[in-house]
Amino acid sequence: MSDFYGNNDKPAVVAKTDAQKIAFAPLMFQAAKALRDFGILKLLLKSKEGMTVGEIAEEVNISRYGATVLLEAGLSLEMVYMEDGRFKLTKTGFFVERDEMARVNMNFVNDINYKGAFYLQESIKRGEPVGLHNAYGEWNTIYEALAELPDDSRKSWFEFDHFYSDIAFDELLMVIFESKPDKIVDLGGNTGKFAIACAAYSSNVKVTIMDLPGQLKNAKANIKERGFDNRIDTFSINFLNNNKPFPKGFDVFWMSQFLDCFSEDEIVGILQRARDAMSDNTELFILETFWDRQKFEASTYSLHATSLYFTCMANGNSRMYHSDDMKKLIEKSGLYLDKEFTDIGLGHTLLRCRIRK
Ligand SMILES: C[S@@+](CC[C@H](N)C(=O)[O-])C[C@H]1O[C@@H](n2cnc3c(N)ncnc32)[C@H](O)[C@@H]1O
Repeated sequence: MSDFYGNNDKPAVVAKTDAQKIAFAPLMFQAAKALRDFGILKLLLKSKEGMTVGEIAEEVNISRYGATVLLEAGLSLEMVYMEDGRFKLTKTGFFVERDEMARVNMNFVNDINYKGAFYLQESIKRGEPVGLHNAYGEWNTIYEALAELPDDSRKSWFEFDHFYSDIAFDELLMVIFESKPDKIVDLGGNTGKFAIACAAYSSNVKVTIMDLPGQLKNAKANIKERGFDNRIDTFSINFLNNNKPFPKGFDVFWMSQFLDCFSEDEIVGILQRARDAMSDNTELFILETFWDRQKFEASTYSLHATSLYFTCMANGNSRMYHSDDMKKLIEKSGLYLDKEFTDIGLGHTLLRCRIRK
């Protein structure tokens, strides 16, 4: 695997253009979102011969001036192109309109991050999510605030989170159930999706979800609705409290898109407490999207940008990790990496760990 990351191989004229793209990114982002939300992209998707500014403005019920500035920005964004006075959709415009990953990412950036991103530098200086404080109040982390966020923000957060993990869950059940576990604990189990998938997959298994009380309230309602309350229970915890030991007696510890919510030191604290509660036969699974393990530039870009969400909005100290960094933390915690599963879901990697004696 190459240890060179990034790109320093473009002509100066392209680099200069890219610098202006960065300089204007927040304005252009809002223009792209407006082209989508006003229904202009949808309209152009249906129109083979393209449309004039006047036709578009009338159809989506905005002023000619508004349609003009958005469509002209759309030319530079390469979301639309113009031929003989008529606007048509480009491939990028198509993906902004139709691609599910682009949709959830854009909503997540707008509804959760946009206002708080202004405080990125301050967040780095203080090591705190100053964006979260300014956008939503003096919460310690966004996870404590999640249950209280405005509906549109909550919806976008959950759609973003589920988009990445849901796809991976189905293909992983076979791997997890290979050792026929009777008891699984899901750390950061959130709305209970994984626990419910396990209970539906195996009629014997019992699952415990460990999470903050706000998330467990939702999880309990979902579990009851699916009729699994006899086999899925919950354990309220704040993992940042290093003094609280983990319950023992589980065959599997499951951590999906969970450790990225913590700093390196906090991860070691969590893994060590898990280790203390594990036996020789216990398997600990870590499911993550490591940025160095992505096949597509779109995914690496999304992950590097997601790290900034952690900095200014989530907690001020965590990130989407490089797989080597996570492996060092596993070693440091007294565990060893027993098996690695790659190419799962949307660029996920699954690490199966056991205790090192
Ligand atoms: C990114 S979500 C992942 C949810 C789920 N495991 C998945 O794969 O979709 C992280 C979860 O960890 C929980 N979490 C984060 N920090 C926590 C803390 N300090 N104590 C307890 N739970 C925490 C959050 O509440 C959330 O449910």
